[in-house]
Amino acid sequence: MRDVGFWGTGSYLPEKIMTNKDMESLVATSDEWIRTRTGIRERRIAAPEQATSDLAVEAGRRALENAGVAPEEIDMVIVGSCAFDMFLPATACLVADRLGARRAAAFDLETACTSFIYGAAIASQFIATGMYEKVLVIGAEVMSRILDFTDRNTCVLFGDGAGAAVLGPVPAGQGIRSIHLGADGSGGKALSIPAGGTRMPVSEQTLKDRSHYVKMNGKEVYKFAVKAMDDASTIALEKAGWQPEDLDFLVPHQANQRIIDSAVKKLGIDPSRVEVNVDRYGNMSAASLPVALDEAVRAGKINAGDRIILVGFGAGLTWGSMAIQWAQRP
Ligand code: ACO
Repeated sequence: MRDVGFWGTGSYLPEKIMTNKDMESLVATSDEWIRTRTGIRERRIAAPEQATSDLAVEAGRRALENAGVAPEEIDMVIVGSCAFDMFLPATACLVADRLGARRAAAFDLETACTSFIYGAAIASQFIATGMYEKVLVIGAEVMSRILDFTDRNTCVLFGDGAGAAVLGPVPAGQGIRSIHLGADGSGGKALSIPAGGTRMPVSEQTLKDRSHYVKMNGKEVYKFAVKAMDDASTIALEKAGWQPEDLDFLVPHQANQRIIDSAVKKLGIDPSRVEVNVDRYGNMSAASLPVALDEAVRAGKINAGDRIILVGFGAGLTWGSMAIQWAQRP
Protein backbone atom coordinates (compact mmCIF):
# COMPACT_ATOMS: atom_id res chain seq x y z
CA MET A 1 0.00 0.00 0.00
CA ARG A 2 1.28 3.48 -0.88
CA ASP A 3 1.14 6.51 1.40
CA VAL A 4 -1.22 9.25 0.24
CA GLY A 5 -1.20 12.99 0.80
CA PHE A 6 -2.51 16.33 -0.34
CA TRP A 7 -0.73 17.66 -3.43
CA GLY A 8 -2.60 20.94 -3.62
CA THR A 9 -5.63 22.81 -2.30
CA GLY A 10 -7.96 25.53 -3.59
CA SER A 11 -11.08 27.40 -2.59
CA TYR A 12 -13.70 29.78 -3.92
CA LEU A 13 -16.04 32.10 -2.03
CA PRO A 14 -18.85 34.04 -3.73
CA GLU A 15 -18.37 37.80 -3.64
CA LYS A 16 -21.61 38.80 -1.95
CA ILE A 17 -21.30 39.24 1.82
CA MET A 18 -24.35 38.99 4.06
CA THR A 19 -23.74 40.39 7.54
CA ASN A 20 -25.61 39.64 10.76
CA LYS A 21 -27.09 43.14 10.43
CA ASP A 22 -28.51 42.09 7.02
CA MET A 23 -30.08 39.06 8.78
CA GLU A 24 -31.85 41.38 11.22
CA SER A 25 -33.99 42.65 8.35
CA LEU A 26 -35.16 39.11 7.49
CA VAL A 27 -35.84 37.39 10.84
CA ALA A 28 -36.19 38.32 14.52
CA THR A 29 -32.53 38.06 15.41
CA SER A 30 -29.60 40.29 16.35
CA ASP A 31 -25.94 40.57 15.58
CA GLU A 32 -25.29 40.11 19.31
CA TRP A 33 -27.32 36.84 19.50
CA ILE A 34 -25.63 35.35 16.44
CA ARG A 35 -22.10 36.37 17.49
CA THR A 36 -22.34 35.19 21.09
CA ARG A 37 -24.08 31.86 20.27
CA THR A 38 -22.06 30.95 17.16
CA GLY A 39 -19.10 33.29 16.53
CA ILE A 40 -20.50 34.11 13.05
CA ARG A 41 -20.24 37.76 11.88
CA GLU A 42 -21.00 37.32 8.18
CA ARG A 43 -21.35 34.72 5.42
CA ARG A 44 -21.07 34.59 1.62
CA ILE A 45 -24.10 34.18 -0.64
CA ALA A 46 -23.89 32.81 -4.19
CA ALA A 47 -25.11 35.03 -7.05
CA PRO A 48 -28.54 34.04 -8.45
CA GLU A 49 -26.97 32.50 -11.55
CA GLN A 50 -24.44 30.43 -9.55
CA ALA A 51 -25.18 26.79 -8.74
CA THR A 52 -23.08 24.44 -6.60
CA SER A 53 -21.13 23.15 -9.63
CA ASP A 54 -20.04 26.70 -10.52
CA LEU A 55 -18.43 27.14 -7.10
CA ALA A 56 -16.99 23.60 -7.25
CA VAL A 57 -15.37 24.19 -10.67
CA GLU A 58 -13.63 27.35 -9.46
CA ALA A 59 -12.31 25.67 -6.28
CA GLY A 60 -11.29 22.59 -8.29
CA ARG A 61 -9.42 24.69 -10.86
CA ARG A 62 -7.49 26.45 -8.10
CA ALA A 63 -6.58 23.15 -6.41
CA LEU A 64 -5.32 21.73 -9.73
CA GLU A 65 -3.17 24.84 -10.31
CA ASN A 66 -1.82 24.68 -6.77
CA ALA A 67 -0.96 20.98 -7.22
CA GLY A 68 0.60 21.54 -10.65
CA VAL A 69 -1.68 18.89 -12.11
CA ALA A 70 -3.49 19.12 -15.47
CA PRO A 71 -7.21 18.23 -15.53
CA GLU A 72 -6.56 15.32 -17.93
CA GLU A 73 -4.30 13.70 -15.32
CA ILE A 74 -7.14 13.37 -12.79
CA ASP A 75 -8.43 9.80 -12.37
CA MET A 76 -11.49 10.55 -10.24
CA VAL A 77 -13.57 13.56 -9.20
CA ILE A 78 -15.61 13.38 -5.98
CA VAL A 79 -18.00 16.20 -5.10
CA GLY A 80 -19.34 16.26 -1.54
CA SER A 81 -22.38 18.43 -0.82
CA CYS A 82 -25.90 18.48 0.57
CA ALA A 83 -27.05 20.99 -2.05
CA PHE A 84 -26.31 19.49 -5.46
CA ASP A 85 -27.25 21.21 -8.72
CA MET A 86 -30.05 18.64 -9.25
CA PHE A 87 -30.99 14.99 -8.59
CA LEU A 88 -29.71 13.85 -11.97
CA PRO A 89 -27.00 13.91 -13.23
CA ALA A 90 -24.39 13.89 -10.49
CA THR A 91 -22.84 17.33 -9.97
CA ALA A 92 -19.39 15.69 -10.06
CA CYS A 93 -19.97 14.69 -13.71
CA LEU A 94 -20.77 18.30 -14.62
CA VAL A 95 -17.72 19.52 -12.70
CA ALA A 96 -15.35 16.97 -14.29
CA ASP A 97 -16.61 17.97 -17.75
CA ARG A 98 -16.20 21.71 -17.11
CA LEU A 99 -12.69 21.20 -15.71
CA GLY A 100 -11.66 19.04 -18.66
CA ALA A 101 -11.02 15.98 -16.47
CA ARG A 102 -11.88 13.74 -19.41
CA ARG A 103 -10.33 10.51 -18.08
CA ALA A 104 -11.90 10.81 -14.65
CA ALA A 105 -14.56 8.71 -12.96
CA ALA A 106 -16.93 11.08 -11.18
CA PHE A 107 -19.53 10.76 -8.46
CA ASP A 108 -21.33 12.69 -5.73
CA LEU A 109 -21.02 12.00 -2.04
CA GLU A 110 -23.50 13.12 0.60
CA THR A 111 -22.50 12.99 4.22
CA ALA A 112 -23.28 16.69 4.74
CA CYS A 113 -20.54 18.56 6.60
CA THR A 114 -18.41 15.40 6.86
CA SER A 115 -18.37 14.91 3.08
CA PHE A 116 -14.85 16.26 2.52
CA ILE A 117 -13.31 13.86 5.06
CA TYR A 118 -15.33 10.94 3.65
CA GLY A 119 -14.27 11.98 0.12
CA ALA A 120 -10.59 12.27 1.02
CA ALA A 121 -10.81 8.88 2.78
CA ILE A 122 -12.29 7.21 -0.33
CA ALA A 123 -9.73 8.93 -2.59
CA SER A 124 -6.87 7.78 -0.39
CA GLN A 125 -7.92 4.13 -0.66
CA PHE A 126 -7.94 4.20 -4.48
CA ILE A 127 -4.49 5.81 -4.50
CA ALA A 128 -3.04 3.61 -1.74
CA THR A 129 -3.91 0.46 -3.67
CA GLY A 130 -2.33 1.83 -6.86
CA MET A 131 -5.58 1.82 -8.81
CA TYR A 132 -5.50 5.61 -9.23
CA GLU A 133 -2.75 8.26 -9.11
CA LYS A 134 -4.55 11.58 -8.66
CA VAL A 135 -8.00 12.27 -7.28
CA LEU A 136 -9.77 15.62 -7.00
CA VAL A 137 -12.00 15.93 -3.92
CA ILE A 138 -14.32 18.93 -3.68
CA GLY A 139 -16.71 20.13 -0.99
CA ALA A 140 -19.16 22.69 -2.39
CA GLU A 141 -22.40 24.16 -1.12
CA VAL A 142 -25.00 26.74 -2.07
CA MET A 143 -26.71 26.45 1.31
CA SER A 144 -28.62 29.68 0.68
CA ARG A 145 -30.87 27.78 -1.80
CA ILE A 146 -31.94 25.16 0.76
CA LEU A 147 -32.35 27.48 3.76
CA ASP A 148 -35.64 28.90 4.94
CA PHE A 149 -35.01 32.62 5.33
CA THR A 150 -38.08 32.87 7.57
CA ASP A 151 -36.60 30.37 10.10
CA ARG A 152 -34.15 32.10 12.46
CA ASN A 153 -33.11 28.74 13.95
CA THR A 154 -31.28 27.81 10.76
CA CYS A 155 -30.87 30.64 8.25
CA VAL A 156 -28.34 32.62 10.31
CA LEU A 157 -25.95 29.66 10.64
CA PHE A 158 -24.93 28.76 7.10
CA GLY A 159 -23.12 30.19 4.09
CA ASP A 160 -22.03 29.35 0.52
CA GLY A 161 -18.57 28.36 -0.73
CA ALA A 162 -16.35 25.61 -2.12
CA GLY A 163 -13.01 24.04 -1.28
CA ALA A 164 -10.99 21.35 -3.02
CA ALA A 165 -7.86 19.22 -2.81
CA VAL A 166 -5.85 17.02 -5.17
CA LEU A 167 -4.69 13.84 -3.48
CA GLY A 168 -1.85 11.66 -4.75
CA PRO A 169 0.94 9.33 -3.61
CA VAL A 170 3.60 10.80 -1.27
CA PRO A 171 6.92 9.44 0.09
CA ALA A 172 6.60 6.53 2.53
CA GLY A 173 5.87 7.54 6.12
CA GLN A 174 4.21 10.83 5.14
CA GLY A 175 0.69 11.95 4.31
CA ILE A 176 -2.47 10.46 5.83
CA ARG A 177 -1.56 8.55 9.00
CA SER A 178 -5.07 7.60 10.17
CA ILE A 179 -8.70 7.81 9.16
CA HIS A 180 -11.77 7.47 11.36
CA LEU A 181 -15.33 7.61 9.95
CA GLY A 182 -18.68 7.07 11.64
CA ALA A 183 -22.43 7.36 11.18
CA ASP A 184 -25.58 7.05 13.30
CA GLY A 185 -28.78 7.29 11.29
CA SER A 186 -30.91 7.16 14.44
CA GLY A 187 -30.10 10.87 14.76
CA GLY A 188 -31.06 11.61 11.16
CA LYS A 189 -34.14 13.63 12.03
CA ALA A 190 -32.11 16.17 14.04
CA LEU A 191 -30.91 17.79 10.83
CA SER A 192 -32.78 17.11 7.61
CA ILE A 193 -34.60 18.37 4.54
CA PRO A 194 -37.81 16.35 4.92
CA ALA A 195 -39.41 16.95 1.50
CA GLY A 196 -38.33 16.73 -2.11
CA GLY A 197 -37.10 13.12 -2.07
CA THR A 198 -38.93 9.81 -2.47
CA ARG A 199 -40.20 9.76 1.14
CA MET A 200 -42.08 13.02 0.73
CA PRO A 201 -42.17 14.15 -2.89
CA VAL A 202 -42.78 17.81 -3.60
CA SER A 203 -46.47 18.73 -3.39
CA GLU A 204 -48.50 21.85 -2.77
CA GLN A 205 -48.60 20.86 0.90
CA THR A 206 -44.80 20.46 1.26
CA LEU A 207 -44.29 23.84 -0.38
CA LYS A 208 -46.85 25.38 1.98
CA ASP A 209 -45.13 23.73 4.98
CA ARG A 210 -41.72 24.87 3.72
CA SER A 211 -40.51 21.30 4.34
CA HIS A 212 -38.14 21.35 1.36
CA TYR A 213 -35.82 23.53 3.47
CA VAL A 214 -33.27 22.57 6.16
CA LYS A 215 -34.85 21.73 9.54
CA MET A 216 -32.68 21.42 12.59
CA ASN A 217 -32.96 20.62 16.27
CA GLY A 218 -30.05 22.90 17.26
CA LYS A 219 -29.68 21.69 20.84
CA GLU A 220 -29.61 18.01 19.86
CA VAL A 221 -27.05 18.64 17.10
CA TYR A 222 -24.96 20.76 19.47
CA LYS A 223 -24.74 17.99 22.09
CA PHE A 224 -23.85 15.43 19.43
CA ALA A 225 -21.31 17.76 17.80
CA VAL A 226 -19.29 18.45 20.94
CA LYS A 227 -18.95 14.73 21.69
CA ALA A 228 -18.30 13.77 18.05
CA MET A 229 -15.52 16.36 17.66
CA ASP A 230 -13.86 15.31 20.93
CA ASP A 231 -14.10 11.57 20.27
CA ALA A 232 -13.11 11.73 16.59
CA SER A 233 -10.05 13.91 17.29
CA THR A 234 -8.89 11.56 20.04
CA ILE A 235 -9.38 8.47 17.88
CA ALA A 236 -7.46 10.03 14.94
CA LEU A 237 -4.57 10.81 17.30
CA GLU A 238 -4.57 7.33 18.83
CA LYS A 239 -4.78 5.54 15.49
CA ALA A 240 -1.83 7.62 14.23
CA GLY A 241 0.15 6.76 17.38
CA TRP A 242 0.48 10.45 18.28
CA GLN A 243 0.23 12.16 21.65
CA PRO A 244 -1.82 15.39 21.89
CA GLU A 245 1.45 17.34 22.29
CA ASP A 246 2.67 15.99 18.92
CA LEU A 247 -0.06 17.93 17.13
CA ASP A 248 1.07 21.02 15.17
CA PHE A 249 -2.25 22.22 13.75
CA LEU A 250 -5.98 21.51 13.92
CA VAL A 251 -8.48 22.11 11.12
CA PRO A 252 -11.98 21.57 12.58
CA HIS A 253 -15.36 21.76 10.88
CA GLN A 254 -16.65 25.32 11.17
CA ALA A 255 -20.20 25.06 12.55
CA ASN A 256 -19.97 27.09 15.72
CA GLN A 257 -17.10 28.76 17.59
CA ARG A 258 -18.28 27.20 20.86
CA ILE A 259 -18.07 23.69 19.38
CA ILE A 260 -14.54 24.44 18.08
CA ASP A 261 -13.52 25.83 21.51
CA SER A 262 -14.64 22.64 23.20
CA ALA A 263 -12.54 20.45 20.85
CA VAL A 264 -9.55 22.78 21.30
CA LYS A 265 -9.83 22.54 25.07
CA LYS A 266 -10.12 18.75 25.00
CA LEU A 267 -7.02 18.41 22.80
CA GLY A 268 -5.13 21.01 24.83
CA ILE A 269 -3.87 22.65 21.65
CA ASP A 270 -2.98 26.36 21.60
CA PRO A 271 -5.86 28.25 19.88
CA SER A 272 -3.29 30.02 17.66
CA ARG A 273 -2.70 26.62 16.00
CA VAL A 274 -6.35 26.12 15.07
CA GLU A 275 -7.86 27.34 11.79
CA VAL A 276 -11.07 29.33 12.25
CA ASN A 277 -13.17 30.95 9.52
CA VAL A 278 -16.70 30.48 10.89
CA ASP A 279 -16.71 34.20 11.78
CA ARG A 280 -16.33 35.17 8.09
CA TYR A 281 -18.16 32.37 6.27
CA GLY A 282 -20.60 30.73 8.71
CA ASN A 283 -21.10 26.98 8.33
CA MET A 284 -20.49 26.03 4.69
CA SER A 285 -21.22 22.37 5.38
CA ALA A 286 -19.06 20.20 3.06
CA ALA A 287 -17.06 23.27 1.97
CA SER A 288 -16.01 24.42 5.46
CA LEU A 289 -13.15 21.97 5.99
CA PRO A 290 -11.48 22.23 2.56
CA VAL A 291 -11.76 26.05 2.58
CA ALA A 292 -10.23 26.18 6.08
CA LEU A 293 -7.48 23.77 5.00
CA ASP A 294 -6.72 25.78 1.86
CA GLU A 295 -6.57 29.08 3.74
CA ALA A 296 -4.30 27.61 6.41
CA VAL A 297 -1.93 26.11 3.82
CA ARG A 298 -1.77 29.30 1.73
CA ALA A 299 -1.17 31.41 4.84
CA GLY A 300 1.86 29.23 5.65
CA LYS A 301 0.29 27.92 8.86
CA ILE A 302 0.71 24.32 7.67
CA ASN A 303 4.09 23.25 6.30
CA ALA A 304 5.78 20.04 5.18
CA GLY A 305 6.36 17.73 8.14
CA ASP A 306 3.59 19.26 10.29
CA ARG A 307 1.23 16.90 12.06
CA ILE A 308 -2.34 18.02 11.58
CA ILE A 309 -5.84 16.75 12.25
CA LEU A 310 -8.97 17.35 10.17
CA VAL A 311 -12.12 16.68 12.17
CA GLY A 312 -15.79 17.19 11.41
CA PHE A 313 -19.39 16.16 12.00
CA GLY A 314 -22.62 16.63 10.14
CA ALA A 315 -26.12 15.55 9.27
CA GLY A 316 -26.67 11.81 9.08
CA LEU A 317 -25.57 11.99 11.77
CA THR A 318 -21.99 11.51 10.61
CA TRP A 319 -18.49 12.24 11.86
CA GLY A 320 -14.93 11.79 10.68
CA SER A 321 -11.32 12.63 11.36
CA MET A 322 -7.98 12.28 9.65
CA ALA A 323 -4.43 12.60 10.99
CA ILE A 324 -2.01 13.86 8.34
CA GLN A 325 1.71 14.39 8.32
CA TRP A 326 1.76 17.19 5.77
CA ALA A 327 3.93 16.17 2.81
CA GLN A 328 5.63 18.28 0.18
CA ARG A 329 4.15 17.71 -3.26
CA PRO A 330 6.54 15.12 -4.81
N1 ACO B 1 -31.82 34.86 16.85
C1 ACO B 1 -32.42 35.05 18.05
N2 ACO B 1 -32.93 34.04 18.77
C2 ACO B 1 -32.83 32.80 18.25
C3 ACO B 1 -32.22 32.56 17.01
C4 ACO B 1 -31.73 33.63 16.29
N3 ACO B 1 -31.13 33.50 15.10
N4 ACO B 1 -32.27 31.24 16.75
C5 ACO B 1 -32.89 30.66 17.80
N5 ACO B 1 -33.24 31.60 18.71
C6 ACO B 1 -33.92 31.41 19.96
C7 ACO B 1 -34.73 30.14 19.97
O1 ACO B 1 -36.00 30.37 19.43
C8 ACO B 1 -34.80 29.84 21.45
O2 ACO B 1 -35.79 30.65 22.02
P1 ACO B 1 -36.78 30.06 23.15
O3 ACO B 1 -35.87 29.68 24.28
O4 ACO B 1 -37.66 31.23 23.44
O5 ACO B 1 -37.44 28.91 22.49
C9 ACO B 1 -33.46 30.34 21.95
O6 ACO B 1 -32.97 31.26 20.97
C10 ACO B 1 -32.43 29.24 22.11
O7 ACO B 1 -31.34 29.88 22.72
P2 ACO B 1 -30.13 29.08 23.31
O8 ACO B 1 -30.61 27.90 24.09
O9 ACO B 1 -29.22 30.03 23.99
O10 ACO B 1 -29.46 28.58 21.97
P3 ACO B 1 -28.24 27.62 21.90
O11 ACO B 1 -27.21 28.00 22.87
O12 ACO B 1 -28.72 26.20 21.87
O13 ACO B 1 -27.67 27.98 20.45
C11 ACO B 1 -27.49 27.13 18.24
C12 ACO B 1 -28.42 27.68 19.31
C13 ACO B 1 -26.49 28.19 17.87
C14 ACO B 1 -28.31 26.74 17.01
C15 ACO B 1 -26.76 25.89 18.80
O14 ACO B 1 -27.69 25.00 19.36
C16 ACO B 1 -25.92 25.18 17.78
O15 ACO B 1 -24.92 25.69 17.30
N6 ACO B 1 -26.26 23.91 17.45
C17 ACO B 1 -25.48 23.12 16.52
C18 ACO B 1 -25.87 23.47 15.14
C19 ACO B 1 -24.91 22.88 14.13
O16 ACO B 1 -23.74 22.73 14.37
N7 ACO B 1 -25.45 22.60 12.96
C20 ACO B 1 -24.67 22.21 11.83
C21 ACO B 1 -24.45 20.76 11.75
S1 ACO B 1 -23.40 20.38 10.47
C22 ACO B 1 -24.26 19.96 9.04
O17 ACO B 1 -24.35 18.80 8.72
C23 ACO B 1 -24.86 20.99 8.17
